[in-house]
Amino acid sequence: MPDEDGYFGEPVAARYDESSAEMFDPAVVDPIVALLVELAGDGSALELGIGTGRIALPLARRGVPVHGIELSNAMVARLHAKPGGGDIGVTIGDFATTTVDGTFSVAYLVFNTIMNLTTQAAQVACFKNVAAHLEPGGCFVIETAVTELQRLPPGETVRAFHVSETKWGFDEYDVARQGLTSHHFELVDGRVERQSIPFRYVRPAELDLMAELAGLNLRDRWGGWQREPFTSESEKHVSIWEKLDA
Ligand SMILES: C[S@@+](CC[C@H](N)C(=O)[O-])C[C@H]1O[C@@H](n2cnc3c(N)ncnc32)[C@H](O)[C@@H]1O
Repeated sequence: MPDEDGYFGEPVAARYDESSAEMFDPAVVDPIVALLVELAGDGSALELGIGTGRIALPLARRGVPVHGIELSNAMVARLHAKPGGGDIGVTIGDFATTTVDGTFSVAYLVFNTIMNLTTQAAQVACFKNVAAHLEPGGCFVIETAVTELQRLPPGETVRAFHVSETKWGFDEYDVARQGLTSHHFELVDGRVERQSIPFRYVRPAELDLMAELAGLNLRDRWGGWQREPFTSESEKHVSIWEKLDA
């Protein structure tokens, strides 16, 4: 259940890096950071939902000044406890509406986190908020999954996304309202812990409209960070929108 830190409070933050270990693999992180370094140029980067610094820390080590917006104090405490983490400024708040000082050459929202905003209005507000923080020509990068609706037989609402000896995950769809609740069950010290997180899934074309409303133009869309083509089989997309010159 959410607390004042949202769905990433103390119990989740304490185990986040361990339970997402595969996402911290340099093979995953390095191409993300390489692209963001390129887009940042001589400017700064803004990470929405900075978490424990999985991307922000290696990006800062590459010489890009990074600022974060984050709801969870518990996640930020983990970031600030890491080497170099204390140098990364974070503003606590909702990234759909929270403003920070300065402008940025790149803003990014990775690991499906756009879907943590559970209404269309909040997702639209997020694009507008980002656009207000970008320099002309600056870029907004989103990495998010393409929901597996094609695998959902008529009448079914639940699909398993992870089944192992110690972890089980099920996505529960509410297609009428683009709702998706991810149910996580994990065996921890002999006890099963449950966490259910609500999302709003959103297709690339709807994101493009949100971008347009915010004055951003689609620049690139790939099926992954290696700049693979985005196709009907892609399980996720990496999209870059550019702020039009004023
Ligand atoms: C899946 S984690 C990703 C963290 C980090 N970006 C990464 O790639 O490891 C999502 C993060 O976004 C934060 N978050 C979710 N919704 C948010 C919101 N509306 N405003 C600010 N932060 C939010 C969560 O607290 C969490 O730290």
